[in-house]
Amino acid sequence: MDGPAASGKSSVARLVAARLGRIYVNTGNMYRAMTWAVLERGVDPHDADAVRSAAADIRIECPVLDGQTQVSVNGRPLTTTDLNSDAVNAAVSLVARVPEVRERLVSDQRSLTALGPLVMEGRDIGSVVFPGSRLKFYIDASEEVRAARRHAQGHTDRVAERDRMDSTRKSSPLVIPEGAQYIDNSHLTLEQAVESVLGMIADGR
Ligand code: DC
Repeated sequence: MDGPAASGKSSVARLVAARLGRIYVNTGNMYRAMTWAVLERGVDPHDADAVRSAAADIRIECPVLDGQTQVSVNGRPLTTTDLNSDAVNAAVSLVARVPEVRERLVSDQRSLTALGPLVMEGRDIGSVVFPGSRLKFYIDASEEVRAARRHAQGHTDRVAERDRMDSTRKSSPLVIPEGAQYIDNSHLTLEQAVESVLGMIADGR
């Protein structure tokens, strides 16, 4: 499942995974963990060369807890507070545009299939990580709805700016993957969006 920031894709993906008994993987948290570690080393996230060399020593692990992957950096588990700090929100799109960071994390994401059947969400899952997947979804919502959802979560970052960077970067930008089912959930409840995905899966679409 792919989609822009605060589109609701994490909530939808988590519930779809739970209903199908699959492991839920939030790949945004892997980019956030890498960003947290880069910032902790005092690296300027605008400096792609410095990010690249710092990233070479940063190991992101994804142990499974309660049906979801968690993230640890070199053995240290990160909390949702660590992953969603203002500093990480502001820097994550800069770190995520560095091709070597993406290559590393995409390879880590592919190897998570060893855990069993997954529901994985992010920005490039259907286009780059698993382009051959039979079940691809693109979860969208209007810019106003996404800003309001982010605000309601207590975050003050500018999702439009993050989306602009995620959609215009050279290395695997956010796109609607070929063959993806497009769901605009601006005016759907979470339950309706989940039912819609489950219905399409049951139809074999
Ligand atoms: O899903 P999220 O908003 O927590 O993701 C944080 C950032 O990570 C997002 O702005 C771009 C990046 N990201 C990415 O580039 N590729 C992914 N598969 C997932 C996230």
